[in-house]
This record gives sequence, structure tokens and C-alpha cells, in this order.
Amino acid sequence: MNILLLGSGGREHALAWKISQSEKVSHLYVAPGNAGTAHLADNDRTGGRTFAPTSNVAMKADDFDAIKRFVLEQHIDMVVVGPEDPLVKGIYDEFRADARVADIPVVGPSKAGAVLEGSKEFAKEFMQRHDIPTAAYAAFDGEHLEDGLRFLETLQPPYVLKADGLCAGKGVLILPTLEEAQKELREMLGGMFGTASSTVVIEEFLSGIECSVFVMTDGRHYKILPEAKDYKRIGEHDTGLNTGGMGSVSPVPFADAAFMQKVEERIIRPTVDGLAAEGIEYRGFIFFGLIRVDRDYANAKAGDPMVIEYNVRMGDPETESVMLRVKSDIVDLLEGVAQGNLDQRTLEIDPRSAVCVMMVSGGYPEAYEKGFPITGIDSVAGSIVFHAGTAEQDGRTVTAGGRVIAVSSYGADKAEALQKSFAEAQKIQFEKKYFRSDIGADL
Ligand code: AMP
Ligand code: GLY
Repeated sequence: MNILLLGSGGREHALAWKISQSEKVSHLYVAPGNAGTAHLADNDRTGGRTFAPTSNVAMKADDFDAIKRFVLEQHIDMVVVGPEDPLVKGIYDEFRADARVADIPVVGPSKAGAVLEGSKEFAKEFMQRHDIPTAAYAAFDGEHLEDGLRFLETLQPPYVLKADGLCAGKGVLILPTLEEAQKELREMLGGMFGTASSTVVIEEFLSGIECSVFVMTDGRHYKILPEAKDYKRIGEHDTGLNTGGMGSVSPVPFADAAFMQKVEERIIRPTVDGLAAEGIEYRGFIFFGLIRVDRDYANAKAGDPMVIEYNVRMGDPETESVMLRVKSDIVDLLEGVAQGNLDQRTLEIDPRSAVCVMMVSGGYPEAYEKGFPITGIDSVAGSIVFHAGTAEQDGRTVTAGGRVIAVSSYGADKAEALQKSFAEAQKIQFEKKYFRSDIGADL
């Protein structure tokens, strides 16, 4: 079959790497892709794998007219959506509503399902309706600023403020003092993130350690993919500004069988059942941003999982370690998602550890330069190089984003995998490169 994958980051390179290894695939197209998705075999420095022909298509992931034309012209059998944007804009519904492409499955939720990520207030209300453990909260719009300021006075620090809408990962502020929280609430409701912050969710701060859990669902059945931990801050030992993610590790030692059983019973199953009960079509990935709390809350005890957020796609950079641990044919699973018979498919997980170390541009997540040539990928041995922000320019690979390249490795354990990724990351060069050398050290 022919598959079209939408997106252009490290997550999409990792998905392309996995999809292309399926014997079911005749041709994989990635739109728009990056310098890595165009050369899968060259960047897999572990050897021994074969990939279906894969090519990039110069097409934006949210240009629905162009996407539909391409799907018809190239006889695409399935569309897999990497990022949230096209989902929140309704690509699933757009296909269903157009008779020419209505039969072509889009892996990703309907617009109504994508609201789980597109609106924090909706996500909180959904969790409340289905008794899913999450932080206590209240939501305020600009007309209720005074109420919001007073609500903050009733809480203990630190204060968590979340813009309701999509903000490219920047919409959450955690403030140490009441004064700062009140000032930021004024600014957010005053348009700091445009319309995305015209409603602000204020929530109770949860104390604990985070991990990411992913499922594939056909709307009724689900399969739980390997969990991962993401490292969000730019600086070592989790200091400095938030980034898109500086590395990931899978498995996560504290997410043991007892913890995962609670995650499944209290969070995953009520979410999938809740979507079905509300008549929300959802055939895709659900990303549960979880925290194992270290003290008691109203709806969870110390050691239990609570939900920080939902995303309606895979995580980045979690995918760059999670895909390494999926042993089964992912296309078979994707077909199960699309056809509603995911329960008849098998998901086998590689017991080894997998990690990814993200190499970023100097200055990121603030201003940084682009266009620096990247060298040394050819000398990497035994790891997989996933491109995030790269481009091809005059036959050379150059930096084209803040997060540039993820170096992913297997190991008998996390320490072995990390040692490999750190060593291989030393071989890749570009001006002002930076990576965190403490990924996984806290586990
Ligand atoms: P989000 O954009 O929802 O993933 O939030 C970004 C980050 O803010 C999360 O990964 C957490 O580290 C932190 N965060 C969000 N909500 C809370 C909360 N209620 N308590 C503690 N930390 C939070
Ligand atoms: N790694 C966090 C995210 O993808 O949102």
C-alpha cells in the first residue's frame, strides 16, 4: 500500500523509519518531511534493515486541498498525521466529507476528538465528566478577570496558568508568587498568546515525576505503546527554559506493572470509553502526559498517576525512542486503527531500552541561527540518526530549526543505550551545537 505521512520533525522521521520497514508498504511519502526522511537508510547506522521507497513531497501538512489532490493522484491508501495542527483544523472530517477521498483512512482523531489537545478547558471538563484523576482547576475568560485574580488568592503557590488553546508548547506558565501569577493572568487574558489565551485554565500544582504514555485506538479497542520520559528543560538537571524536548528514555523504571495497571484502569480505559460514550470519533494516537504524584490529592494518593494533559498525536522526542521498541509491524496496527479491529492485531514490544539525545542549535529555545552545515553523520555507528530541524541545500545537510538531530540508541539497559547516544552525538558536528549530557540521569 501507499502511505502519506504528514509532518516534518524528528517524530515524523521516527514514524517514517518504522512505517517503511513494513512489508505492506510499496511507497511512503512524507509531506513536507526533512533531510532525514528522504534518506532513511543512510541515517540508520545500525545496518541490516530494509526500507520501502520513501520520498518527501513539498506540501504543507495543513494544506488540505493539496493533500487531497496528492492522495488521489498517487493512489494513497492511508494518511498518517504526525503533528496536532492538521488534526485540530479537522483533516479527519475534511476527508470524510469529500466523496472522492471519504474511503481513505486518516489516522488521527476527528476535529471533535482533537479538542482534547486544542482546548485545555475541554480536556479538563472531559476528565471531570469521566472521573479521570487530574488537578483541580477553574477557567476564566477576559470578562471574568477579577474572579480569576480572586481565585488565585485562594490557592497555594506555585501557580499554574494554562492558555486554553494551542501555543506550540509555550502556553503553560508556572509562577512562584501570587503577584507574578496575577500579573501573568492579566497579560494572558489581555492577549499574550492571541486568541489561544482568551480563556485561561488555572490549576492546582501537582508535585511528582512525569512520564508519557501513548496508546493507539480505533475508538473502541486500544493498544498501549511503550511509555517514555521526556526531558523538557534546556539546561542540565532540568534547569532553564522549556523546550520541545531534549531527549527521551523508554522504558521508565517507575512506570512498573502496578503503576501501569492504575494508568490503564483509571485513565486509559475511561478516556477511550468516554470518547465513545460521547460519540466522538477517534482513530489515532492518544498521548497521556502523566505525573506520578508524590503526595495525596483529592482524587489520587501518593504514588498514583494523574493526568497533566492530553495530546492527540505522538510525542516528540518520545517517538524517537518509543518506535525503536515497537517490534510488530506498525502498519498492521495502523490498519487495525483504521478498520476498527485493533483488538485482532498484535503489539510486541522489544525488551531492550531505547533512548534519544536531542542535538539543538546554540541559543535555542530563544533566538538561534540556521543554515550551518552538518557533518559526521556517516561516521555514526550503531545508532539511528533522526533528523528534526534539517534541510538539504546544494547537496549538503544544514541546520534548519532549534531541535536539529536526535541520536537514538538501543541498549541492554538505559545506561548502555545512553552511553552509545552520547558517544555518537560527539561525532556529529555543526556550529554551536548543544545537547544535554544528563538525559536519563534522574531515573
Ligand atoms: P503542558 O503544555 O500541559 O504539557 O505543560 C507543560 C509542563 O508544565 C508539563 O509538562 C509539566 O511539567 C508542567 N505542568 C503542567 N501542569 C502542571 C500542574 N498542574 N502541576 C505541575 N506541573 C504542571
Ligand atoms: N514531548 C512532548 C510533546 O511532544 O508534546
